[in-house]
Amino acid sequence: MKRVVFNQKGGVGKTSITCNLAAISASQGLRTLVIDLDVQGNTTHYLVGEIDADAFPAEAQGVAGLFKQTVGSRKMRQNPDSFVWETPYENLFLMPASPALSDMEKELESRYKIYKLRDALTKLDEEYDRVYIDTPPNFNFYSKSALIAADTVLIPFDCDSFARQSLYALTDNIDELQEDHNPDLSIEGVVINQFNSQARLPGELVAELKDEGYPVLKTFLNTSVKMKESHREHRPLVDLAPSHNLTTQYLDLHAELEKGLRRRARK
Ligand SMILES: Nc1ncnc2c1ncn2[C@@H]1O[C@H](COP(=O)(O)OP(=O)(O)OP(=O)(O)O)[C@@H](O)[C@H]1O
Ligand SMILES: [Mg+2]
Repeated sequence: MKRVVFNQKGGVGKTSITCNLAAISASQGLRTLVIDLDVQGNTTHYLVGEIDADAFPAEAQGVAGLFKQTVGSRKMRQNPDSFVWETPYENLFLMPASPALSDMEKELESRYKIYKLRDALTKLDEEYDRVYIDTPPNFNFYSKSALIAADTVLIPFDCDSFARQSLYALTDNIDELQEDHNPDLSIEGVVINQFNSQARLPGELVAELKDEGYPVLKTFLNTSVKMKESHREHRPLVDLAPSHNLTTQYLDLHAELEKGLRRRARK
C-alpha cells in the first residue's frame, strides 16, 4: 500500500506527516519504506541525521540512483531494494534524496521516465507493508511520479489563509493526473496541521473546507514546539515523546487512516 503526502504549498507539514506516520507504522510492526523525493532532503535528514557527503556518491544512491539506472543499458539494472537504506528504527527503511535529483530532473522528464517510480515500487510490493512518499513543494517531475506510483494521497493543510487558494490549484492538478495517468489514485483526505483551537481563523477555514466538500480527516494535528525538537533530534515523535499530546494525535490519525483502508478493502 503506497501513500503519497503532497501539497505544492511549502511548509505545510508534508515531511513531518510522512515521517511521523511512517515511524508509527513501523513501530506497530509493519515493514515500512519512506521515499524522499524532495531535493531538500528534509525527510532523509530527519530520519538518519547528518550524512557524510564524501562517503555518499549522491548520484548512485537512493532515489537518484534508482532513476539514474533507468537511463542507458538495461543489463546494468539493480533491484530497487538496493537503493534502500536501513534507519535506526526497526521496520523503518528509507530511500534517501540527494542534491543530484535537481540536476537529473530535466533529462528524466525529456526521456519520459515518469512511470519509472511506479514500476520500481510495483517490484517492491511484496517487500513492504506500507510505503510513504514525501514530495517537494512543486507539481514537478518527482511529485507527479509519486502521484502516479501511489494508491492514495494525503493532503496536509496548515490553516493559513493562503492555504485555501493553493488547495483549489492542487485538487485541479490531482484531477488531471488521475484522468491522464492514475485513475485508481484516491484522495484519502485533507490533514489539518498546525491547528490552533484558541484562534478563530483555523476553525473558520476548516468549516469552509468541509462546506465545499473537501474530505477533511477527523483527527487534527495541533501546533507544538515538540515537532521542531523532533526534527532537530532526528527522532520521530513516537520515539522522542511517546506520550506527548501531538504524538497521541498522530497515533489517532494513523489509526483513522488504517481503519479507512480496511473499510475500502471490504467494499
Ligand atoms: N504540528 C506542528 N507543530 C509545530 N510545528 C510544525 C508542525 N508540523 C510541522 N511543523 C514545522 O513546520 C515547518 C514545516 O514543516 P515540514 O518541513 O514538515 O513541511 P513541508 O511541507 O515538508 O515543507 P516543504 O514544503 O519545505 O517540504 C517545520 O519547521 C516543522 O517543524
Ligand atoms: Mg518537506
